[in-house]
Amino acid sequence: MHNKFPHLFEPFKLGSVRLKNRITKAPLFTAYAHKDGTVSSLTLEHYKEVAEGGVGMIVVANGIVDESGSISKYSIRVDDDRFLPGLSRLADTIKKEDAAAVLQINHGGYFAHGRKTFSPSSVSLSDLNLGGLYKTALKSLDFQQQLAVLSEAIQQRPSRPKKMTEDDIKYMVSAYAQAALRAKKAGFDMVEIHGATGYLPVQFLSPRINNRKDQYGGNLENRMRFPLELTQAVMDAVGSDFPVGYRFLADEWIDDGFPLDEAKIFAQRLSDLHVAYLSVTAGTYESFSRPEIVEKSHEPGYMVYLAENIKEVVDVPVITTGRITAPQLAEEILREKKADLIGLARPLFVDPEWPQKAYEGKDEDIVPCENCGACFQLVVSDRSALCVQWGKTKLIKRKNMIKEVHNPRKKILIAMDESENATMAAAYAADMLANRTDVTITLFHITTDESIKDESGIKEMMDIARSILIKAGIPEKAINIQIRQKKAGMGNDILNEIAEAGYGTVVVGRRGVSRANQLLFGSVSNKIVQNAKDCTVWVVE
Ligand SMILES: Cc1cc2nc3c(=O)[nH]c(=O)nc-3n(C[C@H](O)[C@H](O)[C@H](O)COP(=O)(O)O)c2cc1C
Repeated sequence: MHNKFPHLFEPFKLGSVRLKNRITKAPLFTAYAHKDGTVSSLTLEHYKEVAEGGVGMIVVANGIVDESGSISKYSIRVDDDRFLPGLSRLADTIKKEDAAAVLQINHGGYFAHGRKTFSPSSVSLSDLNLGGLYKTALKSLDFQQQLAVLSEAIQQRPSRPKKMTEDDIKYMVSAYAQAALRAKKAGFDMVEIHGATGYLPVQFLSPRINNRKDQYGGNLENRMRFPLELTQAVMDAVGSDFPVGYRFLADEWIDDGFPLDEAKIFAQRLSDLHVAYLSVTAGTYESFSRPEIVEKSHEPGYMVYLAENIKEVVDVPVITTGRITAPQLAEEILREKKADLIGLARPLFVDPEWPQKAYEGKDEDIVPCENCGACFQLVVSDRSALCVQWGKTKLIKRKNMIKEVHNPRKKILIAMDESENATMAAAYAADMLANRTDVTITLFHITTDESIKDESGIKEMMDIARSILIKAGIPEKAINIQIRQKKAGMGNDILNEIAEAGYGTVVVGRRGVSRANQLLFGSVSNKIVQNAKDCTVWVVE
């Protein structure tokens, strides 16, 4: 038992998943994914760092269940199997550090970005109380940046979302279920349905927003129908051995909004479905910037009373979040049984080592979140999150990584066998890419029984290829050489490298065999042309 914080470091079980302690990373959307929705190296670095800090469970924020629901240019997407490799790497990265990996799944409803957005009612965004949100989003930008953000928002977002038909509702329920199943396939331990912050499930629950006259609108029973149906569908899809949590809105904190007394009834219904936990929050983009809410949210543990209220009426574990910056407060909440688990969003963004420092009794070394709002301002203006409290080195490193995510260099692989085709492939690439500074090129050689005998010859060939590229104006530091031993055969090894490192272009020479022979025996280049995914292949003859 831990001397100083015995409750905080007590293990816990969510369904079949064991947590090593009661500290969880509450979801904090960072906008670190690539524009195509794939997991970036920055995403991996961020979650690895948090996992290494000793937290018991990590909720990865905001995996998008359908393209129409994306809330930012840099959201992680879960709506297609092509996202599986990156999601698997992310789940592995977290689990390697003995933290449970949870993927939050979401649809933004009318807060989504695309040309076609969905909502239960055809509410115009200008009817909503979003002045505070826009002010927050624009506050930290200069005039030019403000214009850019506004014009992009106007171009991208239709003024009214499509009012969902019953078919749209069925489709969306199934999109959540498919996304959850994909998270399971990728190796996550759990999923968390995002039912807070004003996104699609809340748009159904809120009596202000939902003005439908059918079975999905009107009284509470009808307004709960969509979130309950989607929760059931998610649970059916993943099976009973896979825990499904719910990010829960306990109060919309706005007049005529979804109130606590209705939330308690909804919580009981989710508890009856046996969700794995309720992670209790409050407020939406319409209420966050109301002066009384801003004031309230400066208080340590400002949402604990809501967790307590919900805990009283449910049989499932409850997570509480909201300015729990000190382990002493976390310990007290657990000791007094106000919640079962502690959620830390910004505190772990500022200082991922919060759990480890508390464990070692060095809690005075924890860097507490100062509630400056910078991370929030960044993500709501569609930029990637940073923390101004980080040290200079980390801040600079992250800024550079963010630049790379927003404007990725094109990654090119030149497959180099031991024949002169390889040098031809390099010469062709040099011609095509002359003077390009936005590329990184990898000269990639798989050793064969023949080539292994002539190590110096291979090195010489790689050096010739490198100098051809440098002569064509490719910066020296943008050229890498990689020599690997054959594992699964030349073609397969190259294909594995393409998939793992995410190359956009592959250049390969075709061996000097006749077309008839190629048809008969196949060739490395044919194999790559036929099997490389999401990548252009240049075959040089
Ligand atoms: C920048 C930022 C991004 C957030 N993104 C998410 C999110 O993607 N999903 C979610 O459920 N909550 C999100 N939240 C809410 C947090 O999980 C948390 O409830 C809130 O920040 C209060 O807790 P904290 O004081 O520990 O940060 C976000 C909060 C911030 C500040």
